[in-house]
Amino acid sequence: MALITIKNASMGYEGKTVLSKLNLTVNEGDYICIVGENGSGKTTLMKCLLGLLQPTAGSISFGDGLKQREIGYLPQQTIIQQDFPASVSEVVLSGCLNKRCTMFYSKQQKEMAADNMKLTGIYDLGKKCFRELSGGQRQRVMLARALCATQKLLILDEPVTGLDPMATADMYALIKDLNKNGITIIMVSHDVNSAVSNATKILHLSRNNYFYGTAHQYLHSDVGKKFILSDCPCDDCRHRAQGGVHNV
Ligand SMILES: Nc1ncnc2c1ncn2[C@@H]1O[C@H](COP(=O)(O)OP(=O)(O)OP(=O)(O)O)[C@@H](O)[C@H]1O
Ligand SMILES: [Mg+2]
Repeated sequence: MALITIKNASMGYEGKTVLSKLNLTVNEGDYICIVGENGSGKTTLMKCLLGLLQPTAGSISFGDGLKQREIGYLPQQTIIQQDFPASVSEVVLSGCLNKRCTMFYSKQQKEMAADNMKLTGIYDLGKKCFRELSGGQRQRVMLARALCATQKLLILDEPVTGLDPMATADMYALIKDLNKNGITIIMVSHDVNSAVSNATKILHLSRNNYFYGTAHQYLHSDVGKKFILSDCPCDDCRHRAQGGVHNV
């Protein structure tokens, strides 16, 4: 059963359509990268998945026990977030807010926050102020926070923006590990080359159109060919170059 089914969905603001007639399913275990130029509607789609914005037509439905409020979300960075006056532990714990029934966090939630801080390598920064961290450290904190909200699905909006190549590679490795451990990933990225080597499926949004398929299909699509700078690195293509059979 699909985790998310999007049927004929259109999305936009105040009468202006940003995305129209989108049809796709997200299955458990998928690693989906959403690419497309600035303003193509990537964040708008994320907002609709999270219920922060309603589709103007069509539907988004959830299956396999996924509840919309149990989606982990790492938002696109803003200046306001960078200046957040709270400790690292407080920021991570705030990911449990959707599960909090009282004014206080439970022991179990505090343990989960500590586990996620260890997993993302920021446990020792717990008492530091969020705004004193480097960009890479901040994104790890936001990832640990998102993990507190979910066991199933992470939505990451440009998680490597502003990170240096090492921190970017670390972040991608961490996200890949989470996916291997069963968490479905939907990630917005401008790094198309990394998207095709990490993700299993690509959603490319462009004006009045979209492509949704496997990373391999994307590499061989007209839209993919325009955006990919390097040759297809997959085994099939290497095999073909050596005279083998190509399976798109
Ligand atoms: N709150 C809003 N009210 C009105 N229009 C909006 C709002 N948020 C976004 N838009 C418009 O919707 C379109 C899509 O914006 P969106 O933020 O989804 O793009 P994006 O693909 O995430 O871009 P980027 O790569 O720059 O993050 C843009 O034309 C933008 O101006
Ligand atoms: Mg965006």
